[in-house]
Amino acid sequence: MSGVAVITGAASGIGAGLARKAAARGMSVVLADRDAERLAVVAAETGGIAVPTDVTDPDALEALAHEAFAQGPVDLLFNNAGVLTTGNSWEIPADKWRQSVEVNVLGVVNGLRAFVPRMIAADRPCRIVNTASVGGFLPSPLMAPYSATKFAVVALTESLAGELATVRSKVAVSLLAPGPVKSEIFREEAGANAEQFVGTMRDMLEQHGVTPDEFAERVFAAIDSGEYWIVPQPEALDEGLRARNETIATRATPQFYMTDEDS
Ligand SMILES: NC(=O)c1ccc[n+]([C@@H]2O[C@H](COP(=O)([O-])OP(=O)(O)OC[C@H]3O[C@@H](n4cnc5c(N)ncnc54)[C@H](O)[C@@H]3O)[C@@H](O)[C@H]2O)c1
Repeated sequence: MSGVAVITGAASGIGAGLARKAAARGMSVVLADRDAERLAVVAAETGGIAVPTDVTDPDALEALAHEAFAQGPVDLLFNNAGVLTTGNSWEIPADKWRQSVEVNVLGVVNGLRAFVPRMIAADRPCRIVNTASVGGFLPSPLMAPYSATKFAVVALTESLAGELATVRSKVAVSLLAPGPVKSEIFREEAGANAEQFVGTMRDMLEQHGVTPDEFAERVFAAIDSGEYWIVPQPEALDEGLRARNETIATRATPQFYMTDEDS
């Protein structure tokens, strides 16, 4: 695959892995992140173009799309930037709630608003990959802003796919649901009463997370086979999803793993 790949959140973790993989496959990579310094390092490593971008700013996404299409028609857009805030939902400060919605949901929306019209106009096969999470199917206590916003990404991506099919565009869509990947997603200081939870999650990523490069390998294999649901670690989703679907179908009360007895 050649052509242009655009990746938001490319300065770290999964985004940087996707950038390296796209570049290794001969794609021109256009890299966006709010962290300009670390973005420059990934750009140097991949021969890509760094466009410091805050995905919460619609004008910045317009400028990114302009810059990207100046390189050629965009073949792959990864709406990948994301943030994770922890704590009890009623204790998380309002500005942190707002940031989660603005980055994780509206950041994707801003990407779609800037890129989709140009991708449709290009009238050639291309793909948008929106990053949700297994947390977009399985809600977790102590990270409600993350669960709620990743559920939103799952929903908006299906709406988008339906719309693009209705207008018979050549733009394909994928929903990416990572399981644990070694990254800095838990970089934020733990919220009130979430110290133990965050410690456990950081250890879990360290011990069981796949590397961003291995993860990107699996993502590109799924893209090659045209998958809508990109679930590179099905073992992190399938059993929980079956149990959750059963809970809903039988109107059972949700049970959570972090109870006082087992934490
Ligand atoms: N690592 C995991 O285990 C995991 C699991 C499920 C889903 N995800 C998702 O994968 C995506 C990538 O996360 P990661 O794990 O690589 O984490 P990461 O923290 O290592 O990387 C996220 C990047 O997004 C950037 N970013 C944050 N806010 C931004 C903004 N407003 N504008 C532009 N860039 C911004 C950060 O600067 C950072 O470089 C996220 O959407 C995350 O929710 C990660």
